[in-house]
Amino acid sequence: MTKDLRTFLRQLDEAEDNTFVHVKTQVDPKYGLSAVLRRLDADGVPPVVYFESVAGSAIPVLSNLFANPKALALALDTERHRLGEEFANRCQTPIKPQSVETGPVKQVIYRGDEADLTTLPQIVHSVGDAGVYITAAVAITRDPDSGVYNAGIYRLQIVGPRKMRINPGPGSDLRRIVLRNEELGQPTPTAICIGHHPALHFASQSRTPPQLSELDFTGGLLGEPLRMVPAETLNLEVLADSEIVIEAQILSGTREDEGPFIELGQYKNPGEYNPVVEVTAMTMRNDPIFHDIYSAHADHNNAGAAAREAELLLRARSVCPAVTTVHLPAPGATRFTAYVALDEPTPGMARNVALQLLSTHPALKQVVLVNTDIDIYYEPDVQWAIASRVRADEDIIVMPGFFSSGLDPAGHSIHSRTERGSVNAKWIIDATAQPGSHQADRRDLPREMWQQLDLSKYLGNSSELTRVW
Ligand SMILES: Cc1cc2nc3c(=O)[nH]c(=O)nc-3n(C[C@H](O)[C@H](O)[C@H](O)COP(=O)(O)O)c2cc1C
Repeated sequence: MTKDLRTFLRQLDEAEDNTFVHVKTQVDPKYGLSAVLRRLDADGVPPVVYFESVAGSAIPVLSNLFANPKALALALDTERHRLGEEFANRCQTPIKPQSVETGPVKQVIYRGDEADLTTLPQIVHSVGDAGVYITAAVAITRDPDSGVYNAGIYRLQIVGPRKMRINPGPGSDLRRIVLRNEELGQPTPTAICIGHHPALHFASQSRTPPQLSELDFTGGLLGEPLRMVPAETLNLEVLADSEIVIEAQILSGTREDEGPFIELGQYKNPGEYNPVVEVTAMTMRNDPIFHDIYSAHADHNNAGAAAREAELLLRARSVCPAVTTVHLPAPGATRFTAYVALDEPTPGMARNVALQLLSTHPALKQVVLVNTDIDIYYEPDVQWAIASRVRADEDIIVMPGFFSSGLDPAGHSIHSRTERGSVNAKWIIDATAQPGSHQADRRDLPREMWQQLDLSKYLGNSSELTRVW
């Protein structure tokens, strides 16, 4: 069976734990849906949520798909600590999409004025957002010169039944494609695909060279080709197994105020002067599911975890094979902070690794280096290493004045530290302990004695307890 959003949701259902929950009560798309997600976030390990009923639309909403570490890893049939490694392995063999004549996304077709974006769930996540946004769509375009397909996620503000504004950020391939089309005096045909297997979202976050398509990477991750069908109104192929496809043109030479929008790190992005998108058709399944990403929270942060951890892991190992794992924790927006575990590296080498990583992804600011006795997916362990093994005067290295990210809330302009901008310090916390030193001599029950222990043999229900009180 072709892998898509539904095959993945069935996998989640089979997991039979609290990873995937249904909300039956109708929610308000403006803040009501995100209030439920925010409440679940506060419990620490938020589930994937299927909202059966969202006021104002007949279409149910799936959200928080990337917030839950178990669901995230299940997308590549692995465990969270192996996600980056698995992504890197599977991308070794990209698989090109396969053209087919039709697919589920063609079950309902609206052309021209029949298409109406206001029939979709009109979600507003955060107080301060300019209005309704589509946040989980993968927009597919084509390089006008090479013909190579490009895929990425870009926030899309709905401003009319057939009108949106899109945010192709600085440095994105989409911005390059739109600007090149503008030079050629033509619009950019775009297939805005909502709802597909999460491997597509993972691949969309990778930094592929221009001649390699993220759609080929998706095939590699899935182990099978994506199926593509011709669009109704564009000279482009679209994803046959998507839940919904919005066919659109990014108009040439148009710019309008888009935003503000609450972005990564939960700070207000004032918005941009961005291109206008004109819808030419909408196609969907008979009973589509609308995929939403809960912006500025773990769901948003983690969508790129696999691609970024894979890239950093490969880079780190190219400097030092002693690197076992690289983890980007969600509270660091899954990009500002990296934890790196190393197995007895040559003295000083851990810091070389940190420098390499800091220059790989501009947004990465803080690298914490630890030995492999620390579980970098267990925050208390990392904090233990920092508290126990760091001498701040020697082991915290701060380097001022680097290019970081326009989304870094602590970033400042080159002219003034009080003006927002993309410049910030980068720093290394070396919490490794030299083999043989007293700091390396951590005494704890060996993992093999407790990690795989079957607790059901020991813990009873409270009703079965022998009470002595
Ligand atoms: C939920 C989410 C929202 C995003 N929004 C934007 C956005 O509005 N603009 C942007 O340039 N990148 C955004 N990104 C990051 C891009 O999707 C990512 O950098 C991608 O690799 C860009 O692809 P491209 O370089 O092929 O255009 C977002 C990522 C996620 C996960």
